[in-house]
Parts: sequence; structure tokens; C-alpha cells
Amino acid sequence: MPEKIIKSADRVKDIGEVFTPKKIVNLMLDQPEITEKINVLNSTFLEPSAGEGAFLVELLKRKLQVAKEKSNGIEEMQNNFLLALSTLYGIELMQDNVEMLVINMVNTFRDVYFNTFSHEDQNQKVLKSANVIISANMAQGNALTRKTNTGEPIIFSEWKPLPKGKVQRTEYTFDSIVEGGNATGTVQSEFEQLDLFAEPDENDPKEADNKNYAACLWEDIYKKKIE
Ligand SMILES: C[S@@+](CC[C@H](N)C(=O)[O-])C[C@H]1O[C@@H](n2cnc3c(N)ncnc32)[C@H](O)[C@@H]1O
Repeated sequence: MPEKIIKSADRVKDIGEVFTPKKIVNLMLDQPEITEKINVLNSTFLEPSAGEGAFLVELLKRKLQVAKEKSNGIEEMQNNFLLALSTLYGIELMQDNVEMLVINMVNTFRDVYFNTFSHEDQNQKVLKSANVIISANMAQGNALTRKTNTGEPIIFSEWKPLPKGKVQRTEYTFDSIVEGGNATGTVQSEFEQLDLFAEPDENDPKEADNKNYAACLWEDIYKKKIE
């Protein structure tokens, strides 16, 4: 079946939606400077107009291959699979595209995972944590205004590897990352700043998100434990 690269003429006109064919994606990712980055396990990629994931899905396949090659032992490889996944970020405007983007990332991770690890080494916690990483890293919103479709700031998580197979998750606004991301751009510190001027409102979904994640094992990310 030929690849579908447009959904409708209106969408091409309104939002410039034309999906990149696999062959072109591969040609672009084969560029030496890109390959060099892919080979560094913790190098990050952001696709600000992600569509259904033409680039992110192929990047994920390539990064998982690197994780396989660079790991010693099953446990390290499983951690490195999650690390590789955590380095890929996407923003996409259209809800139907984001849904397909998430499905495509989940299915790609699972396919490679099941083809890599034997039945007895497969760990449901890793798969559940992969789903949490994907939903945190794939944002629906406008990359130009840096806001979601409900006007909230787009938020991304940093997944920082720690010794002993652990990871520290920290949330930043996309705004602060673009403007040179530093500690003042963490979601936590923004809300602390707001608290100086307003009573905390527990019904405000932003207040509910006011949290610091506890450092945890990669496979425990799905528990979303708060400090
Ligand atoms: C040319 S397509 C490319 C999609 C994908 N990168 C690919 O290569 O198949 C552009 C995509 O950007 C999305 N888009 C358009 N304006 C956007 C914006 N301001 N912020 C985020 N995504 C946007 C469209 O919905 C569309 O899916």
C-alpha cells in the first residue's frame, strides 16, 4: 500500500500538514551529524511539528538499537531502553495526530522490547514506565506560542540518569527550555513564585501539578512517586 502523506487538501492549506515518507526520513537521519547524535544515548531530540511521528518513530528504533549495543546485561539494557525513549520529545497541534503519535511510539517501543527480551526477562513495569514517558514527552500544543490548546504552558520532563540505575524526573515549561532552561524554569519554582501573590487554589489543575518527583528506579517511573 502506498504511504499516505496527506489527509486532506484543507489540512495542507491550513496547517501545512504533509507527512514525510519513510525513505526521506531515513535519508535525513542517515546524515553523519545526526547519526553521531543518535549514537550518544542521552542526546535529546525535539520534533516541534511531530505529525504522527515519522521522525520520532525512526529515531526511537535507532536509539533502541544503540541502547542494545551499549548495554552490559539485561537490567542495564532495560534501563537504557527507557533512557533512550526518554530523550525523544514531540509537539503536535492536532489531536488526531497526537493520538497516532503516541500509539506509534508505544507500539514501536513494545515491538522492539518483545523482540529483544526473552519471555522470562520481560518486565511489565518497564512497559508501564515507557507509557508514562511517552505521554509526558509527546505534547499536544502549539510550538510557536508554546501553549497547549487550552492555553496552559507546554510542560516537558527532564529524565536525568542517576547512579545505581535511578532517574530524576523534573518538569520544566517549554518556554523556560527555549529561553535557556535553568532551575528558575522548573514548574515547581514557577508555582512557588505564584504563591507569593495568590492563595493556593486546590481546584486549579496547575496547583494539582505542583510537585517534585522522587528519584526512583527507571522501572518505577510509572508509580509517579512524589517527594
Ligand atoms: C509538514 S507536517 C510534518 C509532520 C511530521 N514531522 C512528518 O515529517 O511527517 C507538519 C505538522 O506540524 C503540525 N503543526 C502545524 N503547525 C504547528 C504548530 N504551530 N505547532 C505544532 N505543530 C504544528 C501539523 O499539524 C502537521 O502535523
